[in-house]
Amino acid sequence: MMLIETVNIHKIYPGPLHVLKGVDLTIEPGEVVAIIGPSGAGKSTLLHILGGLDAPNEGQVIFNGQDLYSLSDIKRAQARNCDMGFVFQAYHLLPELTALENVILPAMIKGNSRKTSTIESAGVHLLEQLGLAARASHRPNQLSGGEQQRVAIARALMNGPKIVFCDEPTGNLDSVSGQAVMDTLLLLNKTHGAAVVIVTHDEKIAARTHRVIAMKDGLLEPSLAVK
Ligand SMILES: Nc1ncnc2c1ncn2[C@@H]1O[C@H](COP(=O)(O)OP(=O)(O)OP(=O)(O)O)[C@@H](O)[C@H]1O
Ligand SMILES: [Mg+2]
Repeated sequence: MMLIETVNIHKIYPGPLHVLKGVDLTIEPGEVVAIIGPSGAGKSTLLHILGGLDAPNEGQVIFNGQDLYSLSDIKRAQARNCDMGFVFQAYHLLPELTALENVILPAMIKGNSRKTSTIESAGVHLLEQLGLAARASHRPNQLSGGEQQRVAIARALMNGPKIVFCDEPTGNLDSVSGQAVMDTLLLLNKTHGAAVVIVTHDEKIAARTHRVIAMKDGLLEPSLAVK
């Protein structure tokens, strides 16, 4: 079964501005996909729609066999929290929480029967994998931009998602730090098996994915490269 299958997605903003004009896209479990295209092409719009954050005007997003936008708001929020991770360019870390507290927040929200100590050690383990063991008790304003980005990645992986959506995750970083973030995403793809969708303007980042999809005039161009 495909992890994500979209059928004829349209997005029209007031104006009207017809941003997505019938997008059909499938993503397999564990696949790493880059989405590229000019500014204003609709990449972030598509990512929000795939991630259950913004309903299309027309069309369907089938996630894990379920029509995302026919689910109730609560069920869709649960799917987001349990099965999806998000790494956006603004990291949206909570300033009053430490790095570790930010990382484990999705697991605390999930509110299952796991003990807090178990959740905390899973969070510490993720921070270790991302080279941030020594930063666990720092607050976001005590961390560099690249460190904050890695905290956001750790948080995105906390609940063992089936897919991680990244909107220009390396946009604010120098190329060495950007490649390090990419190393991390690919390593976690290997170890956790999560699919990764990366919107990027960086050709070097796109070249490291399994498949590159270009957006143009509201449609997807056929994949440019398949590894
Ligand atoms: N909430 C909104 N209301 C109205 N128009 C919007 C809204 N969000 C995005 N747009 C418009 O839709 C188009 C696509 O925006 P989007 O953010 O998806 O582009 P993008 O491909 O991510 O661009 P960039 O590479 O600059 O991030 C743009 O022309 C933008 O101005
Ligand atoms: Mg964008």
